[in-house]
Amino acid sequence: MRRPIDSAHVDGGRRYSRVAIAFHWTIALLVIVNLGIGLLHEQLEGIQLIPVHKSIGITVLFLSIARLAWRLTHPAPALPADVPGWQRAVSGITHMALYALMILMPLTGWWFASAAVKKYPLDWFGLFPIPYLPVTRGGDLTHSAHEVLGWTMLALVALHVAAALKHHFIDRDTVLLRIMPAGSGR
Ligand code: HEM
Repeated sequence: MRRPIDSAHVDGGRRYSRVAIAFHWTIALLVIVNLGIGLLHEQLEGIQLIPVHKSIGITVLFLSIARLAWRLTHPAPALPADVPGWQRAVSGITHMALYALMILMPLTGWWFASAAVKKYPLDWFGLFPIPYLPVTRGGDLTHSAHEVLGWTMLALVALHVAAALKHHFIDRDTVLLRIMPAGSGR
């Protein structure tokens, strides 16, 4: 049944906090750019994007640890009452998997870059050096994991975006609005 979007609900204490919204959109942008650079780096040969990819990835790692700490101490607002149980379950599993990947993707990248016999310089956007992890083994495994998890993350991000758009345009509920910066789309 189509019903109007209830913006009062969004304002009625059911929005994410500003900090959670800032974490969400900053990390979303960085992850999407990094998935793009990672998956297209062979086609984009000639443009030196891997150093940028590494700097973005390390940024995602530290932002995601901070975000996870924030999330564990600040519960998400309750979903609208009419969201069915199976959707709550899929969304909970997807969100947990995305948190895990936001940490595992950078860690596996950092690991195989550190374990490589021929090491490339590692720095944060050319501003200061990033130390290599103290590892010498596991380079092949973490490299393969980085690839497989990259495709997994792409699929989960697509599912996550599709679900958000379904809530907004088909269910016409407040699920997308409550993670939008205040003032947008309302
Ligand atoms: C948000 C974090 C990250 C995401 C989403 C990400 C994603 C990806 C993806 C999808 C690929 C392509 C894999 C394939 O060949 O199919 C890739 C490649 C690569 N990533 Fe990352 N990555 C992240 C962080 C990092 C970090 C922190 C480093 C190192 C410090 C790193 C180093 C690399 C390198 C060197 C490649 C090229 C591998 C090759 O040439 O085979 N990545 N990344």
